Formats: sequence, C-alpha cells, structure tokens
Amino acid sequence: MNPQPKLSLLFSRQEIEAAINRLAAELNRDYPGKYPILIGVLKGSFMFMADLIKLLEFPLEVEFVRLSSYGGGKKSSRKIKVVQGLHAPIKGRDVLVIEDIIDTGLTVNFLLDYLRRKKPASLKLCALTDKPSRREVPVTIDYLGLTVPNEFVVGYGLDWDEKFRNLPEIYVLESED
Ligand code: XMP
Ligand code: MG
Repeated sequence: MNPQPKLSLLFSRQEIEAAINRLAAELNRDYPGKYPILIGVLKGSFMFMADLIKLLEFPLEVEFVRLSSYGGGKKSSRKIKVVQGLHAPIKGRDVLVIEDIIDTGLTVNFLLDYLRRKKPASLKLCALTDKPSRREVPVTIDYLGLTVPNEFVVGYGLDWDEKFRNLPEIYVLESED
C-alpha cells in the first residue's frame, strides 16, 4: 500500500466560495439575455460546476465532456482524445467551458478546437484554477477563479490517482520523503 501522502491547505472553503461568488457575478453580468450551454470537463469540474451554476441567474443548459490524454515522451506531444463527446448540438449557441485547472493548456486547447469546429456563436472559458507556470500553449481564460503555484493540487474535484476529489478545500500534495 502507498503511504498516505501529505496534504497542505492551499485554499479554504471560504476562499473557494469567494472565488466562485466573484465568477458568478461576472457571468451574471455578461450572460443575461443569453441561453448558454455550460460544458463541464469531467471528472475534475463536477464540484465546481455544481456550486457555480446554483448562483447563476440566467437560463442555461449543462453538458459534460470527458477527455483523456496519453502517450508522448515530451508533454507537448501528449495525445488528447475525446472519450465522451457532446450530445447536444452547439452550432449557433453561446458555449462556456467549465474547467477545474489549466496546467500546460494542452487539454483545454484541444477541447476549444474541437468545440470551435462545431460553430458555436461564442466560446468562452471559465476555470476554477490556473497554474500559469506550467503553460506550454497560450490559453485565454475568460473567467478565472484562483491561481495556483507550480505544485500538484487536489481536492474540490481535483484528484491524485482518483483520490481526494471529495475534499471541500484545495490542498497541495506534498512529495513523499
Ligand atoms: P493540461 O496540462 O492539459 O492539463 O492543461 C489539464 C488537466 O491535467 C490535470 N491536472 C491536474 N489535476 N491536480 C490535479 O488533480 C493538478 O495539480 C493538476 N494539474 C493538471 C487535470 O485533469 C486537468 O484537467
Ligand atoms: Mg480536468
């Protein structure tokens, strides 16, 4: 059995809640009169999506996609695949992608290209966290919650080996030694 890794608190429930309140206020300012489709990227965004949409005051639809990445010795040659695609048509719709974390940017860059080909009326990105120190491709985050340091973070939907998604706070996973 792996020893239990050490976690150190990065963002408290209150800090996460404040960030989500701010994001909701920005969206409530920008989306009235529209009827967007919010597309959550599984699995990491499920908790963020659930808390965020409760605060949104305009009509919206919810969809999810699931991506996987594999292979590639170098990170930037990593192959990304759509494992669970979109069922709803998004042509001519206002689309808002909901992500848990933007790291190298490769995943969301791939997803935005995939969605753009379906000709939405608008395509925006809302991310709970950003790790800008690791970026390999440029990404415009239209709505950003919290910036994280160059560390692996878990909790609030984010996992390490599928564990810790249920934690209500965000933690840095400390390397074992
Ligand atoms: P890229 O590098 O494509 O990666 O922007 C985005 C995806 O990688 C995962 N990821 C993390 N997951 N803690 C996590 O639990 C992290 O610190 C972390 N950094 C990247 C995540 O699935 C994200 O969607
Ligand atoms: Mg993710």
